Amino acid sequence: MLTNVIRKIPGAVRLYRSMRPRRREASTPPPSFRSILQPLGEPFTSQLESMYEGHPQVGSDGETHKMDASTLISPQQGMWIFDLCRKVRPTSSLEIGMAYGYSTLFFLAALKANGLGHHTAVDPYQDYWKGIGQALIPKLRMSDTCHVSNELGVQAMIRLGMEHRTFEVIFIDGSHRFDDILVDFTLAAQICAPGGHIVIDDMWMPSIKKAVSFIRSNRSDFTEIKTPIQNIAVFQLAGSDKREWDHFIEFA
Ligand SMILES: C[S@@+](CC[C@H](N)C(=O)[O-])C[C@H]1O[C@@H](n2cnc3c(N)ncnc32)[C@H](O)[C@@H]1O
Repeated sequence: MLTNVIRKIPGAVRLYRSMRPRRREASTPPPSFRSILQPLGEPFTSQLESMYEGHPQVGSDGETHKMDASTLISPQQGMWIFDLCRKVRPTSSLEIGMAYGYSTLFFLAALKANGLGHHTAVDPYQDYWKGIGQALIPKLRMSDTCHVSNELGVQAMIRLGMEHRTFEVIFIDGSHRFDDILVDFTLAAQICAPGGHIVIDDMWMPSIKKAVSFIRSNRSDFTEIKTPIQNIAVFQLAGSDKREWDHFIEFA
């Protein structure tokens, strides 16, 4: 009855239709961990799926331990690192801050798929994490591909520099204090291979944002690479550091 009246008024049908409550779109379930992680291949997909689902994991003492769900990188962020390593095909990659080894597994999956490369994972506080990250390496038969160091990030990067080592991909996810991030980046820059990438995690933190502002304003030897992942900042070494001894550009 009402609709018959509406039909007679010019323009009213369109208006009526636009005002009708719409049927709610069926909500699309978020993609499963498995579907996101599938491209990694086994054993990495299953291992990471188990970790993201929060299943207890075996530590370096051989015992099973509960996981602290606050220490990880997102599957999307990990896949971005995996894709970068598939593209760059690093002969050497490095990460500062291993914890349970989520990021380590994305690196190792890429190196295995590439059929080349060696990874170094640094974390001095592995006991705190029950040695779960460390225990993954022999479990996944990756001991020839991955070295785990219990040095501080700064100690490891100074030593690696003195050994004339360089890395095509470096992931910084260790101490998150402003000054530590700046020191980590400065040391990482010295052992970054020409054209290499430095990925900085946790852009949601004010300390990281501030350090990244300094890099953007002052390190013109690096080009920033834009990514769809908001939680990381990525810099590619584009030239040599030609700053004068007193160079300084104010940063926001
Ligand atoms: C956010 S967690 C790393 C998460 C890890 N990348 C992952 O994907 O699971 C930060 C880690 O940095 C380590 N860490 C803290 N200070 C450090 C330092 N000075 N050098 C190296 N690692 C450090 C901590 O032990 C912790 O495991």
